[in-house]
Amino acid sequence: MIKVNFDPKVDVERATKILKEIAKDKMGGWFSLPKKYDMGELVRIKEAAKKIQDESEILVCIGIGGSYLGHRAIIEALRPKSSVKIVFAGNSLSRRELDHALRMVGDHDFSVNVISKSGTTLEPAVAFGAFKKKLIEKYGEEEAYQRIYATTDRKQGALHDEAVACGYTRFVVPDNIGGRYSVLTAVGMLPLAVARVDIDKLLEGAADAASESAETAVKYGFMRHELGSKGYDTEVFASFEPSTMYFNEWLKQLFGESEGKDKQGVWPAAVVYSTDLHSLGQFMQDGRRDLWETIIDYPTDEMNAKVVQAVKIAHLQGGIPVLTITPSSFDERGFGELIYFFELACAVSAKLFGVNPFDQPGVEAYKNELNKLINV
Ligand code: PA5
Repeated sequence: MIKVNFDPKVDVERATKILKEIAKDKMGGWFSLPKKYDMGELVRIKEAAKKIQDESEILVCIGIGGSYLGHRAIIEALRPKSSVKIVFAGNSLSRRELDHALRMVGDHDFSVNVISKSGTTLEPAVAFGAFKKKLIEKYGEEEAYQRIYATTDRKQGALHDEAVACGYTRFVVPDNIGGRYSVLTAVGMLPLAVARVDIDKLLEGAADAASESAETAVKYGFMRHELGSKGYDTEVFASFEPSTMYFNEWLKQLFGESEGKDKQGVWPAAVVYSTDLHSLGQFMQDGRRDLWETIIDYPTDEMNAKVVQAVKIAHLQGGIPVLTITPSSFDERGFGELIYFFELACAVSAKLFGVNPFDQPGVEAYKNELNKLINV
């Protein structure tokens, strides 16, 4: 069960209405996902993971935003031991990064999991083109296509159409779950299973949070809205475990894309202590006072726990609100809890700010400009 150190006033009637809206929303599929998981899909995911483990030394995971950050966050945090190394690609348009990923694969045996709900996003499409070419050169077309796993829309998009035409193994991003809420679908579960993260435990953690920590998540949603409305414009997520840096990135995307619209929202920032105490610590202690800190208080060793305690005291003395969120463990179960907890809190808080938590119209603006520049 997730523990927190705050207890804001919750308008119960409003909270109940919001929860009903989330459950009924056409993009609210993640809300009941942990309890209604498609077990047939889970079996297919594990079978595909086994095949990849048998055939490959490297799995290239291609995707960006919600099609990338969740599984990367858990793999980086838990550092599972797998015979298959995961190489990430398609999360920028930098040629340098793509060449680096291609070099990392080198002559190793590899498979590709290309993940894009829309199937049209440019960054993964460019990387996929490069890795497909490499697969075909190494294995010939027939075997290459058997090494491609496409996670995309059920029935539409360029990637869907290509996957059907070429016979790639397909996994579906459910219609009712958007990118940044999709880590517990095949989007995250296939790469996680390949990396030997215990995906059953991850789901158990999420289901536990849905039963035991939903009320706390609602409280956190209300707390964020209360602070945001009082002029605290920035929330700084703070972790004391360096391997959770990508979980911070996942949080930034979840909150940034869900809340930042119609001139609303709290800016999500993140730090990793104690490293960042020697860079941003000064600002946290003594800079502009329009931010608050949310410490994700992962169970940690004795020495690290002391610095957590010291920071809480010092930053409170510095005059910023310090929230703490404590998961039950630093493992799959704990991260499953955190994922569900933050998704729910984020949806609640976005609704309190009066915005739709599940769309991202602002992301289209740069894409339109880029498409004009490259004449797509
Ligand atoms: O949360 C979201 O919907 C976005 O961050 C998407 O995941 C991201 O833009 C990638 O989109 P796609 O999966 O369609 O390639």
